[in-house]
This record gives sequence, structure tokens and C-alpha cells, in this order.
Amino acid sequence: MKCQLFLFAIIALVGTVWADEEPESARLLVAKQILNKYLVENMDIIVKYTVHNVGSVAALEVEITDNSFHPDRFVHVSGELNARIDRVPPHSNVSHTVVIRPRKYGYFNFTSAEVLYRRTEDAPRLQVAVSSAPGEGLIVSYRDYAKKFSSHVIDWTAFAVMTLPSLALPFALWWTSKSKYEALSKVSKKH
Ligand SMILES: *[C@@H]1O[C@H](CO)[C@@H](O)[C@H](O)[C@H]1NC(C)=O
Ligand SMILES: *[C@@H]1O[C@H](CO)[C@@H](O)[C@H](O)[C@H]1NC(C)=O
Repeated sequence: MKCQLFLFAIIALVGTVWADEEPESARLLVAKQILNKYLVENMDIIVKYTVHNVGSVAALEVEITDNSFHPDRFVHVSGELNARIDRVPPHSNVSHTVVIRPRKYGYFNFTSAEVLYRRTEDAPRLQVAVSSAPGEGLIVSYRDYAKKFSSHVIDWTAFAVMTLPSLALPFALWWTSKSKYEALSKVSKKH
């Protein structure tokens, strides 16, 4: 039984090694990232797609299509949601950015974009791939964002006011000791 499993393992290993020995071709890894720290209703969201060719030859006719931003939920501000890159050389990155603006607040699941490309110049078919998915994010309402922002200003002010005594106290101590010392030295000079 054990021997049989071992044999299967070896066959599986040889199988994967064979599968990896493909002719020279392109292989793309596509990352989709949301560059914003905060997602806010009616404010720009920057989406970056990075195409990384980990293959040995250039990827051709690369097409990134993102159908995940429904017009009901997002205003398309700039950048193509259907982008074409003629050529991505091996071991290099090409990026593309899109700007959108959410119409509503609430949770939104940022899903992957679809990618098509040709792995070799004479590949008969296009390779289909998907980008990474940023996942679920919370789009806050503009009102909440404005409130939070103004409360940060208040926090900051409170911090500045609170640090004032800690700066003032050592100064006061230094001042009193300095004047005491001066008074003492004046007294001693008299003698
Ligand atoms: C391309 O991007 C990948 C992943 O983001 C990174 O690890 C790699 O260093 C980049 N390569 C170049 C040539 O910029
Ligand atoms: C987001 O969408 C992806 C792909 O459709 C799914 O696998 C995932 O479970 C979803 N996440 C949430 C939190 O709904």
C-alpha cells in the first residue's frame, strides 16, 4: 500500500515536470489594486492593473476588461475599462490605471478583471486569465467622511493642547531654578 502511494507520488512529480517543460511562451500575472486609503461616496477611486510577464517571450495583444464597475454604482471618470496593450516584454511590468467614483456608499466586493493575451506570436488561440481581486471594501458616505475628517482635526488640536503643559513644565522648572541660582549667586557675591 505504502509502496503504491510512493509510486503514484513519483508519477505525479514526473507529470508536473513534463507539464512545466513548455515551449517558450509568455505567462502573465495581473494584479488589480485599489490605491486609495479611504473609499468615499462621490470621490475618486484609483484602480491600478499591473501586468507582470513571468514568461520567456513577449505577451501580445493583451486585453484587460473590467466589467465589475456597474454604471448603476460607479461613474467612470478616466482610463479605459477595456484596455489594450500591444506587447508586454518578458520579465517586465506594464501598468494601467482607471479612475471611478462610487455613486453610493456601503460594502462593495471588488472582483477580478478578465485578461486575454497571446502567449506566442503563432499561438492559435488567446490565453484567458483573471486578475487578482482586491476583495470587499467599505465605501463610506461623504457625510461620515467629512465628520471623521473634522474630528481628526479636533483630535490633533487636542493633542497639541495636551502636549503644551509637558513642554511648559520643564521650562518653568528651568526658569525657577535659574532665577533661584542667580539670586543665590547675587547673595554670595555680596559677602
Ligand atoms: C514587476 O512586478 C512584480 C510584482 O508587482 C515585482 O515583484 C517585480 O519586481 C516587478 N518587476 C519589474 C521589472 O519591475
Ligand atoms: C467577492 O466575490 C468573490 C468572487 O465572486 C467571491 O469569491 C467572494 O466570496 C466575495 N466576497 C464577499 C465578501 O462577498
